[in-house]
Amino acid sequence: MVRVKMMAAALTGLLAVSALAGCGGKDDAGSGKDDGKLVLGFSQVGAESGWRTANTNSIQTAAADAGIELKFSDAQGKQEKQIEAIRSFITQKVDVIAFSPVVTSGWDSVLKDAKDAGIPVILTDRAVDSQDKSLYKTFLGSDFVKEGTEAGNWLVKQNEGKTTPVNVVELQGTVGAAPAIDRQKGFAEAIKANPNITVVKSQSGNFTRAEGKTVMEGILQSTPKIDVLYAHNDDMGLGAIEAIEAAGKKPGKDITIITVDAVKDGMTALADGKINFIVECSPLLGPQLMDLAKKVHAGETVEPRILTEETTFTQEQAKAALPDRKY
Ligand code: AHR
Repeated sequence: MVRVKMMAAALTGLLAVSALAGCGGKDDAGSGKDDGKLVLGFSQVGAESGWRTANTNSIQTAAADAGIELKFSDAQGKQEKQIEAIRSFITQKVDVIAFSPVVTSGWDSVLKDAKDAGIPVILTDRAVDSQDKSLYKTFLGSDFVKEGTEAGNWLVKQNEGKTTPVNVVELQGTVGAAPAIDRQKGFAEAIKANPNITVVKSQSGNFTRAEGKTVMEGILQSTPKIDVLYAHNDDMGLGAIEAIEAAGKKPGKDITIITVDAVKDGMTALADGKINFIVECSPLLGPQLMDLAKKVHAGETVEPRILTEETTFTQEQAKAALPDRKY
């Protein structure tokens, strides 16, 4: 019994040292041994949406497929947690750091620390507003302004030749996040030549289904005429659909709904006629990220901006695409 307890204590001690050293890859527990695997520290935004879950799966699967050791950290939507995670990756001397920034500003200091430590950084999905572009090697992700423009262009086309007022409610993503800033900008630019199309309310639903629902409940009570809902992601749109139905209105008919992402739940609502148009934002960044991590680790020069390929979906196109939709 005493022997079993001693062995258990020894094992616990070993595990603790291994955790502090970062669980393998680089120089475990000071042994001087390196198993040769590239170690990638990745700080994720959180788990706020179906898109984010698909993105996390893509990164984890691609790392395993590429033989890369992934140190994954979930920031639960908090910038301070992301900064903490990045600092910990620096301390652990990972080979490459990648992260999807919660918000655009406030990264210069930690990125400078990574640069000083000689660790290359890759931005995925979302941009930072740092003026010093040497703080990161590349930015892999969508063109969010274009996504907003696509959403606005579709609405303008639907209202071609009409002069009747079109009242739009906008559900914004997380305040200060690149996709929220850019999707708002692109949409506003696309509709600006049409004075009959007006954004009458624009509020953040933080990219979550729950907040999309509660924010929409409030807006439905305070706004007498809503013709269109433009939600910066599917999840907020789906939450808003629940609120619209609870208010006795038909989503997709009484209120035209446009969203961004094209995750399975969004595509299902589109095929069912509850959403009218979706602009795709691909979460499948894992394979490209692993490829880039290997290249920057090897000292190769990579393109500073790598854009994701995306499309748009009408209700008919969603019906056709749904059976093969992976996420
Ligand atoms: O940054 C990408 C956005 O973040 C997705 O559109 C949204 O669903 C997610 O939460």
